[in-house]
Amino acid sequence: MAVTTGMIGRGFYNRNSAPQWAAINYVLPWIVEAASGMDFADPPTTVGLADFGCSEGGNSIAVMTTLVAACREHTTRPIQTIHSDLPTNDFSELFKRLRPEGRSVFGEAVQSAAVGGSMYDQLLPPRSVHFATTFNAIGFLGARPLDRLPGYILPNGPSRLRGVGAVAEAEHAAFEQQAARDLEAFLTARSAELVPGGKLLVEVFGAGAEHRTCDGIYDVLNDALLAHVSDGTISRNVYETFYQPVYFRTLDELTAPVTAPQAQCAGLFRMERVESYEVPVPFVEDYQGSGDVDVYANAFTNFLRAFTEPVLRLHLDHDPDPSTVVTSIYDHIKGLLRANPERYPFHYVAHAMLLTRIG
Ligand SMILES: C[S@@+](CC[C@H](N)C(=O)[O-])C[C@H]1O[C@@H](n2cnc3c(N)ncnc32)[C@H](O)[C@@H]1O
Repeated sequence: MAVTTGMIGRGFYNRNSAPQWAAINYVLPWIVEAASGMDFADPPTTVGLADFGCSEGGNSIAVMTTLVAACREHTTRPIQTIHSDLPTNDFSELFKRLRPEGRSVFGEAVQSAAVGGSMYDQLLPPRSVHFATTFNAIGFLGARPLDRLPGYILPNGPSRLRGVGAVAEAEHAAFEQQAARDLEAFLTARSAELVPGGKLLVEVFGAGAEHRTCDGIYDVLNDALLAHVSDGTISRNVYETFYQPVYFRTLDELTAPVTAPQAQCAGLFRMERVESYEVPVPFVEDYQGSGDVDVYANAFTNFLRAFTEPVLRLHLDHDPDPSTVVTSIYDHIKGLLRANPERYPFHYVAHAMLLTRIG
């Protein structure tokens, strides 16, 4: 059972995912370089390119545009792009953008398809994919390992700056283990789908030595939820059983299934390249330039809302008027950001690894 229905649809995620694009853009040169070393001469005759966790497709199609062009430099074979996400994802924007004006957005001899399913399962035929990617997605857990997380709304706990709330060691360990199981399942599924020599690029938000991508954004959501507990809009029990099913890995946690001693996936992949990096967040940069706190609070809230609201809605399923509660929570977030922007600093830390399927 997936723990989220996906992002907010109807173009909302596409319009509010510039930070995710910044993290993707950083590793695009890796794709171009990796494609240049690939051999497309062996079967299958169709070159398969697959992106997992594609959401509404804005960023996924932009990545594929680079990937298709990079592969075209080295093969004239037909290319198929696959864009995959949860069955509950809103694929309608993706479909519109894949064939604007009735033609493939990627040009001639490229066909595309969308596949609904959890990326922790095998979703494509064996040895049918030459290059697989996933961006800003494998932090989403495949299952909720605990029913309650009473002290905070995210497994990684509050920022050091605020320290509001707490996650016990045993609670953290349950999420760490779930994230490790998910990653192994993801790598095992992709290893079955990839051709020998095929590439897998995994990029995800994470926790670095100094900053974590979760800091700031989840503190403000936590503060807003607690304010709604205080005024009686939501119960303490709703707060204590709510958490975002997302885990922010360290770089070591990302690479461990391939590189650690006795690693489960060590025999499946060769690690080609790995890096932890921080990218500038466009709306933070704009705010530093303009000082316009209203624009900043609006962009920050919409960015956060795009991926947190669907989980919140699932959790408020039994509320008589979930839409009013949800609107009130995000309005409150906007107010907190406007009043105290320095209380919720946001840094986008990402980790990426490029793997080659061995065998
Ligand atoms: C933050 S969005 C990233 C979208 C896009 N890759 C980007 O970087 O802009 C995370 C995506 O992961 C998807 N996701 C979460 N859990 C998933 C799962 N188990 N299987 C497939 N996709 C999943 C969500 O539905 C969402 O579309």
